[in-house]
Amino acid sequence: MYDNYLYFPATAALYTLSVVTVLVLLAGVIASTTLWMKGKAPSLHHPLNAPAIIKAFVLECLLQVQILRISVVRWLMHFCIFIGFLGLFAQTALMAFMSHFVPPDTFIAKTFFVSPESRLGGAGARVLDMWGDVFGLLLLIGLAIAIIRRYVLRLPQLETLLKDTLSLTFLTVIALTGFLCEGLRLTDPAYADVARYSFVGNLLAALLKNIGWSAASYQAWVWTHAVISLAFCAYIPFSKAWHIFVSPLEIVLDASERA
Ligand code: HEM
Repeated sequence: MYDNYLYFPATAALYTLSVVTVLVLLAGVIASTTLWMKGKAPSLHHPLNAPAIIKAFVLECLLQVQILRISVVRWLMHFCIFIGFLGLFAQTALMAFMSHFVPPDTFIAKTFFVSPESRLGGAGARVLDMWGDVFGLLLLIGLAIAIIRRYVLRLPQLETLLKDTLSLTFLTVIALTGFLCEGLRLTDPAYADVARYSFVGNLLAALLKNIGWSAASYQAWVWTHAVISLAFCAYIPFSKAWHIFVSPLEIVLDASERA
């Protein structure tokens, strides 16, 4: 593990917690998938139709046109949460994986990661700064629409279960604490030259400076954000968010079966 690679020290404790989470996540995925396969068994036994699968994946999984036909607001909410969450989940998983296996003297490490010699990293780190803010903002927009529809407008067709509230609360707290971490880091003048790439975090940093918060509490907040995120990851197979992973499979298999 190259533990100087990220904006925060990836300590042995954090590493151990992440490994335990991945193991719990895998156990949950196996348990949920076994149950799902039992129900889905008939449609798994047909020759797969590749064009139907690709069409359903693009139109119904990525673009979610079936929801757009029902309501634009509902589509915007769903699309933002789906894409925002997957974008951040993929980024976190990829960074964790790469920080473990990519040696420091390679181009990939120099461009994507920071080091004791360069606290800012290279062009790749700027792409990741923007990536996190774009997908984090999408997630926040989607969550805001979901919260307004469910708890402010209380739309009659929406039955709210504890599962919905738990997933929405987890995701909102994760997104807000993530941006708080970034904002706190960017109050440090060492990041002044590159702060504009993290356009949401940079705005927040200006607000935080006004109320006297500084980068001193960055690590404590990173721990808070990481522990909540990891707890949510372990809970995913049992949560409402599990359908983010299962629905695309169901959709493409059904499309293939129909074709
Ligand atoms: C699926 C789970 C996660 C989601 C949805 C998520 C979401 C976010 C968001 C929205 C941000 C602000 C935008 C950004 O800087 O990228 C953020 C920042 C951050 N996240 Fe997460 N996060 C997740 C998991 C984790 C985990 C497991 C860790 C640590 C082990 C972590 C560490 C951080 C750190 C350190 C920052 C601040 C980066 C900076 O200083 O710019 N996140 N996260």
